[in-house]
Amino acid sequence: MMKKIDISELRAGMRVCGVEKKGRGGALFFVNNILLENESEIRRFSNGYAAIYINADDGPEDGGFAVDDAGVKGRPAGTGGREASGGDVPAGQAEAPFAAELARAKDIKSEAEGLVKSFMNSIRLGREADYGAVHGMVGKMVDSIFRNRDALLSLVRLKSFDNYTFTHSVNVCVLSLAIGRHMSLGEGELRSLGIGAILHDIGKTLIPEGLLNKRGSFSEPEYNEMIKHASLGFEIVSRTGLIGEDARLAVLQHHERYDGSGYQGGLSGADIHPFARVVSVADVYDAMTSRRVYQEAIAPEAALKKMFALRGRSFEAETVERLVRCVGLYPIGTVVELNTGETAVVKAQNPDHSLRPVVLIAVGKDKKMLDDPVEADLLGESGRWVIASRTACDFDVERLIGCG
Ligand SMILES: [Fe+2]
Repeated sequence: MMKKIDISELRAGMRVCGVEKKGRGGALFFVNNILLENESEIRRFSNGYAAIYINADDGPEDGGFAVDDAGVKGRPAGTGGREASGGDVPAGQAEAPFAAELARAKDIKSEAEGLVKSFMNSIRLGREADYGAVHGMVGKMVDSIFRNRDALLSLVRLKSFDNYTFTHSVNVCVLSLAIGRHMSLGEGELRSLGIGAILHDIGKTLIPEGLLNKRGSFSEPEYNEMIKHASLGFEIVSRTGLIGEDARLAVLQHHERYDGSGYQGGLSGADIHPFARVVSVADVYDAMTSRRVYQEAIAPEAALKKMFALRGRSFEAETVERLVRCVGLYPIGTVVELNTGETAVVKAQNPDHSLRPVVLIAVGKDKKMLDDPVEADLLGESGRWVIASRTACDFDVERLIGCG
């Protein structure tokens, strides 16, 4: 059972399972039953947090399985390394190093965006669309996520403003696959999920462009026109005979909401296909964190906070928790401000503590760009911590983290 305590009550031997941040609404975030072994560990939690939640039931041993960052069962305790996390790497098969997979992932993502663009154009113009190419592309993405779960996922953060529709389709696919892998889905299920995710908005090809990019709210007739894209998409993917039922239902139901408040069927809970529950979470997260014609992007941390508040209502709680676990509160590529006045970019996650990633400091305390970025692992530094994430900066994030 989680118990809220004051910072001053922290003692060695306690296990921290949640933190409430100071200011900005004091959002609660879950962390990985971190054992406070000594005074230095306690000091790490003494700054930046308004309150701490400890696991009142846990003794020093946690019985073999840790509750991960988001509170869902994940990987065996004690496998803290990046390559070991995820819980579903086949025995004896090591994951590829992040940097090695990143280069391949960049090519895959850019090829996928090009494919979605030409595929959607074909549908829009009533030409024959290459469903075989979509199957092949999703297969490559699944393979990449099996080689290394973070490489393709890290590229979701690097968004293209000009090609939102295509980038969004690919991002929703990548995020859905990451969640699906966290659910320990098999390769075949992941491929079906990925197909449904990458084609989830295919029905928008039949909605007028002016409506898709409209600023401000819709009139009732416009809204009724817009929401048709889910059933139109279902009709499109049902005509070919090349898309399985699971993927087709993900397309049809991706705007249903867990509490029945979505469209078009008003389905709720288990009546919504499990793949649609995943795609809806991925869709909303990517949409919120993307800059569009009518909307500025919000930072991942703020988006996750909003989605967390809606878990169990708009979204299945477990799926939101898995998303948090997969992307981290500060995904790779996020620009963050540190308490020291420095500005940094997240280079890697610490799977056991998503509030304390590894960062590259790009701008010093004096607000001047550093000639060479300085790497800092915030897990090991008690004097540095993240105070906020930003959506914009003056430097080249992609070049800094090796994606450019
Ligand atoms: Fe949609």
